Amino acid sequence: MIPVVFLHGFPHDSSVWTPQLDGLASDAQCIAPDLFDCAPHAMDAFADHVVAVLDTLRIDSAVIAGLSMGGYVAFAMWRRHRPRVRALILASTRATPDTPETAARRRAMADLVRHGGMSAVAATQAAAQLSRTTQATRPELVAQVTAMAAAAPADGVLGAIDAMLTRVDSTPTLATIDVPTLIVGGDEDVLITRAELTHMAQGIAGARLEVLARCGHLCNLERPAAFNHVAGEFLATL
Ligand code: MLT
Repeated sequence: MIPVVFLHGFPHDSSVWTPQLDGLASDAQCIAPDLFDCAPHAMDAFADHVVAVLDTLRIDSAVIAGLSMGGYVAFAMWRRHRPRVRALILASTRATPDTPETAARRRAMADLVRHGGMSAVAATQAAAQLSRTTQATRPELVAQVTAMAAAAPADGVLGAIDAMLTRVDSTPTLATIDVPTLIVGGDEDVLITRAELTHMAQGIAGARLEVLARCGHLCNLERPAAFNHVAGEFLATL
């Protein structure tokens, strides 16, 4: 079976991929590492950590599936460890670096975490990441995502904020990608716009773009069956 490494976003952990580890188990060898344990906190170091995981499992190459911050790591994987990348799934992510507004928002979040811990930001972060549909209809998922953010280690979160602030622009990377690529997003995502998804899809030769309806930033959790369907179809083509 084809190996797939699922890379979680911010401020999450590998459990965010539970619907894929369950739902795609018969399509792929699913691997979901935790990134906040690694040091130093930088996208390149996270990518090197993924390679160490592949080495431990004696896997030559894998599909790298990154959600949001995990997508930033997937770009770093591609730049640093290209032979290890069999294909890419880029979910709710962007190639562009932070705008000044996003960078200012991150620094403000870091201050809140330093002073109040993760509980100071968990609820607002979850609200920004879930669609209005999910927030109105699925209180249990809102609670689950809030609890996951609240449980994230503050030092790992602060390190990840630094890693995101200092990440390079992956726009020049897009044209170098010559492996099959699936781009997935949600039509109610307020963090990653449709324009960001299209920018990646137009920059990567042959990339397939799927935008899931009634879905926010956490498309794999909010629409697990739809996400697994498009991911499963994509994996079947490899
Ligand atoms: C994530 O889900 O990983 C974050 O929204 C990424 C970001 O803040 O850029």
